[in-house]
Amino acid sequence: MGLDLVLVLCLFVLRFGGLEGQMVPAVFVFGDSLVDVGNNNHLKLSLAKANFRHNGIDFPGKKPTGRFSNGKNAADFLAEKVGLPPSPPYLSLISGSNKNNASSFLTGVSFASGGAGIFDGTDQLYRQSLPLSKQVEYYSKVHDSLVKQLGSSAAQNLLRKSLFAVAIGSNDVFGYSGSSDLGKGRTPQQYVDQMASSLEGYLKRLYGYDARKFVMVGLGPIGCCPSQRNKNKTEECSDETNRLSFLYNQALMAMLRSLQSELKDVSYSYYDTYSVMQNFIQKPTSYGFTEVKAACCGLGNLNAKVACLPISKYCPSRRDHLFWDLYHPTEAAARMFLDDAFDGPPQHTFPVNVRQMIAQ
Ligand SMILES: *[C@@H]1O[C@H](CO)[C@@H](O)[C@H](O)[C@H]1NC(C)=O
Ligand SMILES: *[C@@H]1O[C@H](CO)[C@@H](O)[C@H](O)[C@H]1NC(C)=O
Repeated sequence: MGLDLVLVLCLFVLRFGGLEGQMVPAVFVFGDSLVDVGNNNHLKLSLAKANFRHNGIDFPGKKPTGRFSNGKNAADFLAEKVGLPPSPPYLSLISGSNKNNASSFLTGVSFASGGAGIFDGTDQLYRQSLPLSKQVEYYSKVHDSLVKQLGSSAAQNLLRKSLFAVAIGSNDVFGYSGSSDLGKGRTPQQYVDQMASSLEGYLKRLYGYDARKFVMVGLGPIGCCPSQRNKNKTEECSDETNRLSFLYNQALMAMLRSLQSELKDVSYSYYDTYSVMQNFIQKPTSYGFTEVKAACCGLGNLNAKVACLPISKYCPSRRDHLFWDLYHPTEAAARMFLDDAFDGPPQHTFPVNVRQMIAQ
């Protein structure tokens, strides 16, 4: 019996204390401010920054890190789920004392950048970001240095089991009717089709560099962001923006299905942010929210006239707000999205959820 107990304890330690807690070798993150963990801190000209208060007031140490959130974002929660530290910002790894040290790439890297889009040029308003084209180019450098460090078959083995999370497209949708002229001469359908086909090109490049497991995040009804409601006299959502997001999600899902039938060994988990966020907005109290229209941090109508700047006010209880600032969800909302993407039902996360995809 003594021996049995020791055996049970050993198994317990192995199962929960050791590397067994880590579900994948690495997580690589591509996207915009929804998942930026500090790349833009390194872009001198960028106006899309969040490394000042009140951002981060609920982050460990209460410090602003460049996340557009009161606390952690969805990329942090994905890392936590798979038992890894958050993937560090690429631009922090290629500067400073540990410059280009390939061992810092081993558990993943984040290329996400506030203001970024699928199309180059969504960041005109913010002067500077890493558009998806740049993010993919940087990943190819990381790939090359992993191959140098580990050899090509070990690098391939590591990358093929790793997650490639992609959360991008909101800035392209905002850019359609915005000042950037991106939408000029294109119907909404043509525009979203071109977004999906550009994204397909980038996913194929990642595939060429050994990416196989994709966590694909659909767009929310971003016409309901405080910034958009603020433009409407009765504070309603922008139908035009929501329609574009919805159409893009349709195009994205069709593209992913065809990509998988073309490249047989690709797997993906698509998350239907749109319907989940709509549920939050329609039945807030079921999800613990009391405020789904106004931002927590900002100034003016809906706290959306002025962004979350040091001069802005913020709400005392972040947990009951859907939006942290005029564009971004609170930590509480990001956690709910990610929990659902990871383990959720097939109506929200398909053809498999993230946990199922990891097991494949
Ligand atoms: C690379 O970084 C790791 C830890 O991040 C460190 O142990 C190692 O010595 C570094 N290698 C070089 C060549 O600087
Ligand atoms: C406000 O939004 C509603 C619903 O989308 C729309 O019918 C109405 O025309 C909008 N009002 C303004 C002033 O834009």
